[in-house]
Amino acid sequence: MPTPPTALAPRSAIALQAVLRRYRGKGRAYLLPCLHEVQAITGWLDENTCMQVAENLDLPVVEVHNVIEFYSLFYNAPVGKRIVRVCEDLACDLAGGREVAHACARRLGVDAEHGGTSADGAWTLEMHPCLGRCEQAPFLMIDEAGYGNIKAEDLDALLEGQDG
Ligand code: FES
Repeated sequence: MPTPPTALAPRSAIALQAVLRRYRGKGRAYLLPCLHEVQAITGWLDENTCMQVAENLDLPVVEVHNVIEFYSLFYNAPVGKRIVRVCEDLACDLAGGREVAHACARRLGVDAEHGGTSADGAWTLEMHPCLGRCEQAPFLMIDEAGYGNIKAEDLDALLEGQDG
C-alpha cells in the first residue's frame, strides 16, 4: 500500500511553492539542488511532490524517481524529524562502530541491525557505508553535523542535547 502524501502546514506549503517557482523551467541540471531544498521542507518526497518537481523543471517524473532511488540522502517514505547516520564500514566497524550503532538503536527503540524510525517519529537511525571521515572512526552524523571518535557511552549525552 503506497504511503499517503505529507500534509504540509500552510507555511511549509507556501515555502514549497516558492522553491518550485524559483526552479521553474531550469531543467535537469537543477534537479539535485531542487530536491534538496524541497526535501528540507517536506521531510521526504512523496509522489505528488515528485510530480510537482518534475513539472516545474520540465522533466519526466521518472527522472526524479531515478535520482531519489540512487541517492541515499533522498527519501521516498516518511522519516523521523532528525536523522542519525552511523557508519558501518570497515574502519568504523573495527573501531567499535557496531557497538555505537547498537547503543543508538537501543536508545531510539529501533532495529539494531537495520535501523528505522522511532515510534514517536522523532528520530530515524540509518546504517551507512563510509561517510568519508574514517580517520575519526567510529563516525556518525546527526542531520548535517558529524561526530567522530564516538563511544557507545557518549550517545546519551549526544542525543539528549538534540531536539528529537
Ligand atoms: S569507514 Fe566510517 S567513515 Fe569511513
